[in-house]
Amino acid sequence: MRARDIRAKAGDEPITMLTAYDAPTAQLVDEADIDMVLVGDSVGNVRLGYDSTLPVTNDEMASHTAAVARATDDALVIADMPFLSYGAGDADAIENCGRMLKEADADAVKLESGHHTVDLTRKLTRLGIPVQAHLGLTPQRENETGLYRQGTDEESASEIIDLAREHEAAGAFSLVLEHVPANLAEAVTDAISIPTIGIGAGPNCDGQVLVIDEVIGLSEGTAPFSKQFGDVRSEMRDAIDSYAEAVESGEFPAEEHSHYESDIDDVY
Ligand code: KIV
Repeated sequence: MRARDIRAKAGDEPITMLTAYDAPTAQLVDEADIDMVLVGDSVGNVRLGYDSTLPVTNDEMASHTAAVARATDDALVIADMPFLSYGAGDADAIENCGRMLKEADADAVKLESGHHTVDLTRKLTRLGIPVQAHLGLTPQRENETGLYRQGTDEESASEIIDLAREHEAAGAFSLVLEHVPANLAEAVTDAISIPTIGIGAGPNCDGQVLVIDEVIGLSEGTAPFSKQFGDVRSEMRDAIDSYAEAVESGEFPAEEHSHYESDIDDVY
């Protein structure tokens, strides 16, 4: 899958996107024919034990992206650019984004977007680095905006529509809309021709994205707009408890898990 294939899907069948942070998960996501795998900076909260996405580094993103890319054959692999890896200067931003394609084998990058990313999106696209824009709730700005629903009044809703148009014009191949009213997401989807991918943005986007840990039930809770489709946490807990009990009771390892060499009997 290439960025242009995703772009062509706008208004067609619903587009699917999920996060993944490691090779085995990416393999399962890819085998399920999900269109895009996002190596989200949510890796910070959901896998690395940070309180927010802000501490995530370029090295961490490159490492997780490379693991995902190695296990993905068909889905488009998108590296989420971490806090301050872009925005301070074009040269650094281009180098950091380019590294995700050159070193980590991503197919595209995602930028939490605003006025500051319009020109950068144009430059990256012209250089051959496909960009997925991200508007609405942008968690990297949580210290400024909080982690609240965005676009809830006329002024901020119009700003989101304007920024969506500007990012499309700058060359973005798709747009994530996070935690915005469903009627605003519908208006954005109507206003632009690149696909909108919603998370907490209602049913009228071209596609949907969720954090994999919430979908499979690995995280302890889910965002109110998310949905748990499995219960991996209970499965893991049961397996770990069973292992501990089997070791403590002497049931594991059994004969079939052990091997003996008669040649070394004399050593004792
Ligand atoms: O980091 C992430 O997982 C994201 C999605 C929620 C869109 O940005």
